[in-house]
Amino acid sequence: MKHLISMKILSLEEIMFFLTRAAEFKQSGIKKLPGKYYISNLFFEPSTRTKMSFEIAERQLGLEVLPFESSFSSTLKGETLLDTVKTLEAIGLDTLVIRHPEDGFYEQLLEETSVSIVNGGDGSGQHPTQSLLDLFTIYEEFGTFKGLKILIAGDVVHSRVARSNADVLTRLGASVTVLCPPEWSGEFNSVNKWDDVIGTSDVIMLLRVQHERHELQSIYTNESYHEQFGLTEQRAKEMKKDAILLHPGPFNRGVEIADVLIDSPQSRIFRQMKNGVFIRAAVLETILKGRN
Ligand code: CP
Repeated sequence: MKHLISMKILSLEEIMFFLTRAAEFKQSGIKKLPGKYYISNLFFEPSTRTKMSFEIAERQLGLEVLPFESSFSSTLKGETLLDTVKTLEAIGLDTLVIRHPEDGFYEQLLEETSVSIVNGGDGSGQHPTQSLLDLFTIYEEFGTFKGLKILIAGDVVHSRVARSNADVLTRLGASVTVLCPPEWSGEFNSVNKWDDVIGTSDVIMLLRVQHERHELQSIYTNESYHEQFGLTEQRAKEMKKDAILLHPGPFNRGVEIADVLIDSPQSRIFRQMKNGVFIRAAVLETILKGRN
């Protein structure tokens, strides 16, 4: 494998390989790769979890990590993303992790460069390593995907996490339901009442309202959104006892999820972040071994 761009093109075997390798890393530690590889993380949108967990995975794999700050790069002087990537390839980088606001930013890069690209999130498109770490966290909990009922609740139309996960979880044998305000459902068939789904879901994945991607001001205040579409403390009392809560982060406490639920016994939200390091190490190891 040379790139990781989208969950859609990963086979179920490739997905299960990443989950197995991440589990090995979690149990026995991340092993340094022989040889010397240069990598950089090009983030043109804000990030805490993805950027930092890639960076720690890269360091644990023994990679040479070159710092890149988009706000101090020549993109501010008008250089295109393609020319930035061609430049980094010319000076010797092997792999680039890129987050960019444009859906499908990688298409021209794949055609015109030979550096390996890992998609760290493209606009409202895909976020494959987030999806893999979500899958890893679910698999760690239940040991299977078959027959699980997964609820994805929130701003799905703007969510690359929802888009990455809905399709792959269905392919893996889970049943996925989407809950959101009717006007935010996009291509998804959705429900908009918690009563219909709260008592039967095994996994409840909450998503942030992505105000930065809304063209019009939302008709919901934080309070009215929480009341109508958020996971409130009251609603959470109806959850199955062995159901788990996931959230890719960043979360807005008291909006899509009640403050206390983030640290509740059924929450796996901080475990997801930890698992992200092992998944990203598994992805980078596979890609860099593929370059030999
Ligand atoms: N989940 C996620 O992508 O978080 P960051 O924006 O902090 O990277």
